[in-house]
Amino acid sequence: MARNHLILSILLLFSALTASESDQYFSKKISPSSLGLKKEKLTHLHFYFHDIITAKNPTAVQVAEAAMTNTSSTVFGAVFVMDDPLTVSPEINSKMVGRAQGIYASASQSEIGFLMVLNFAFMEGKFNGSNLSVLGRNAIFSGVREMPIVGGSGVFRFSRGYAQAKTHTIDLQTNNAVVEYNVYVFHY
Ligand SMILES: *[C@@H]1O[C@H](CO)[C@@H](O)[C@H](O)[C@H]1NC(C)=O
Ligand SMILES: *[C@@H]1O[C@H](CO)[C@@H](O)[C@H](O)[C@H]1NC(C)=O
Ligand SMILES: *[C@@H]1O[C@H](CO)[C@@H](O)[C@H](O)[C@H]1NC(C)=O
Repeated sequence: MARNHLILSILLLFSALTASESDQYFSKKISPSSLGLKKEKLTHLHFYFHDIITAKNPTAVQVAEAAMTNTSSTVFGAVFVMDDPLTVSPEINSKMVGRAQGIYASASQSEIGFLMVLNFAFMEGKFNGSNLSVLGRNAIFSGVREMPIVGGSGVFRFSRGYAQAKTHTIDLQTNNAVVEYNVYVFHY
């Protein structure tokens, strides 16, 4: 009896060890189809970005600056956080398709050039709940600025691409701006 019990214990221990060995791995090759990935698609998104700095309810706020920012012609060192609405047409009350949430910081001493670090959080159609991440340089007084799309989530998993930003209107008194975005993105 005691001997049988010992053999059973050894067998159980052995199967537990082999099971946990096969469960524990750091990396392994898998097929794209195991994640449901089919053919790569190219999507063009078009929307208007509203950066409202001066208003009762601003959508972008300055959160930091350096001692020399006020005397810099390029507001070098100023850091803003935005939660800007994205709409289908230039009018703020047109249909909202998402929001641009992130940070922009004045990072050039020779022109107004922002470092942009933001996520587009989409709310429309099959893109509702999916996000794209942007990391780029935005010289806001240049015609068309191009910023890389470095990734995404939801339907935009594995995405890459670029965003082109073109100022639609800017009010130099309030600094409020409407910017047209064309985004080209590969995803599955
Ligand atoms: C810069 O100017 C603003 C407004 O004139 C002022 O509120 C702020 O304190 C100044 N910042 C510094 C770091 O001097
Ligand atoms: C987006 O998804 C949210 C949460 O699932 C839902 O409440 C909302 O109605 C959806 N919006 C659109 C435009 O489909
Ligand atoms: C996209 O971002 C929103 C927040 O804006 C988050 O709630 C959502 O889970 C993100 N979507 C995915 C697929 O991770």
